[in-house]
Amino acid sequence: MTIPEVYESRKNDPRWNTSYPLSPGDWARYRVAGPLPFDNERCLSFYVHIPFCKQLCSFCEYTRMLCPDEKQQNSYIHTVISDIKLFKQQHPNLVLQGFDIGGGTPTSLSDDGFSFLMNECKEVLSGLERTADFEPSVEASFDTLSESKIKAIANSGIRRLSLGVQTSCNAVLNKLNRNGVGEQQMLEWLSMAWNCGISKVNLDFMYGLKGQNAVTIEMDLALVEKLKPQQVTLYELRTNMLANKDMPSKQTLFDHYSQYYRGLLSLGYQAPFGQNTFSVNGADMGVSSYIRHRMKDAAPYKGFGISAQSMNRKGVSYNVGKNGFQKTLLNCRSFGEEFTYQLPEDEIAAKYIAISAYSGAFSTSVLSSLLHKDAKQTYGEQLDYCFGSHLLQDKGDLIQITEKGFEHFGAVFSLFYMPLR
Ligand SMILES: C[S@@+](CC[C@H](N)C(=O)[O-])C[C@H]1O[C@@H](n2cnc3c(N)ncnc32)[C@H](O)[C@@H]1O
Ligand code: SF4
Repeated sequence: MTIPEVYESRKNDPRWNTSYPLSPGDWARYRVAGPLPFDNERCLSFYVHIPFCKQLCSFCEYTRMLCPDEKQQNSYIHTVISDIKLFKQQHPNLVLQGFDIGGGTPTSLSDDGFSFLMNECKEVLSGLERTADFEPSVEASFDTLSESKIKAIANSGIRRLSLGVQTSCNAVLNKLNRNGVGEQQMLEWLSMAWNCGISKVNLDFMYGLKGQNAVTIEMDLALVEKLKPQQVTLYELRTNMLANKDMPSKQTLFDHYSQYYRGLLSLGYQAPFGQNTFSVNGADMGVSSYIRHRMKDAAPYKGFGISAQSMNRKGVSYNVGKNGFQKTLLNCRSFGEEFTYQLPEDEIAAKYIAISAYSGAFSTSVLSSLLHKDAKQTYGEQLDYCFGSHLLQDKGDLIQITEKGFEHFGAVFSLFYMPLR
C-alpha cells in the first residue's frame, strides 16, 4: 500500500494510539534470555509498580488487582525494595534521572504499608547521585489518601503527587465501577499536601469515556479552576487491552480534547496543541522527570515490581506478570524480567516515537541518534506526505502534530513505526 492508503486505512482504527508494540507477539523474534543489561547506562530512571487498587475501574488497562491483606502488601513491598537494593549494588555508579512510584494505586496500601514503602524508597534514594532536574513522583487516588500517607510522601522528600480524577461526573464514574469524591474533600487533601510541602500536584482526566460530553467537560474545567493543580494530564481512552472496545468517533474525541485544551489554556496552563500534559510552568512539560526524559530523549529506565517495563537503547523488557497476573505471583521472592527483547534500531526508534506522541511531537536528532543515521532522510517519504497534507509541521529539530493531524494522531505517528502494509 502507498503511504496515503495506509494512513486512510488506519484513520478510524482505535488500535493506533500511543501503545507500541500493538501485541507482544510482534516482538517474538527479538526475544532473548536474561535481563536487559544496564552496565553501560550511567544515567537512568527507576519506576516502581504497585499493582493494587481499592476498586477495579472497568476502563483501566494497567496491571492491577484488588488490594490484598496487609501481610501480602508487606511481602510485596519487601520484594520490590530488595530488587531495587540488589540492582543498586550491581550498578554502583548510576545517576538517577527520575523515580516514579505508580500503579495501580500506591496509596491503596494500608497507612503502615505505605509509610514503610515511602521510608524504604527514601533510604534507597539517599545513597544515589541524582541529576539536577531529578523530580520523583507518586501516583494516588483521592479516595485512598489519608493524613498519614500525605505526611509519609512529604517525609520521603517526594514533592510531586499525581492523582486520578478521570471525570467530575459521578454518574459517568459509577457506571465504570469507580466512586467519585466530593469537591470539598479533594480541596482538603490538596491543601494538606501543599501545606506539607508537596509543591506540585497533577490531576489526571480522561476523555472517551461513555457518558462524557461538552457539559461534563465544562464541569471538569470548573473543577480544575477550583482545585488549581500545578499540572493536568488528559488521557484519551485506550481499549487495546480491554474486552469492551466501545469508543466515540475520532471527531468526538477531537472535539473533547479541543474543549479541554482551550479551557485549560484560558486557565493559565501551557502546552502545544496535541500534547496531553499541561502545566502552569511550561518548562516541566506537566510531567515528572522520569516521564519527561522518556518523552524527550528516549532515556533509559529500569522497572521494579510485577509487570514493570524497562528500556534502554538495546531493548525493552517486562517483569513477570505482564501477560496474565495471578495472585500467586505476589509470593515470588523477586519480580524478575520474564520477557526481554533485544531490539533493532528501528524498533527502538518506533518505541520512542510512540512514547513521545504523548507530547504531540518527536525530535529528529534523538531519532537520528537511535537509528545511527539521518532520521529526516530515513523517513523522507513519510515526512513529505505528512508535511504536504498538513498533518505534521517542521519545527526544526521537532516534528510536531498539527491540529488537523491530531484528529488521527495514531494513524499519523504509526506511519513512522509500523510496516506500511
Ligand atoms: C495507573 S493510573 C494511576 C491513578 C490512580 N490509580 C487513579 O485511578 O486515580 C494512571 C492514569 O491512567 C489513566 N488510564 C487508566 N486507564 C486508561 C485507559 N484505558 N486509557 C487511557 N488512560 C487510562 C487514568 O487517567 C489514570 O489516572
Ligand atoms: S484507573 Fe486507577 S484506580 Fe482504577 S483500576 Fe486503574 S489504576 Fe486502579
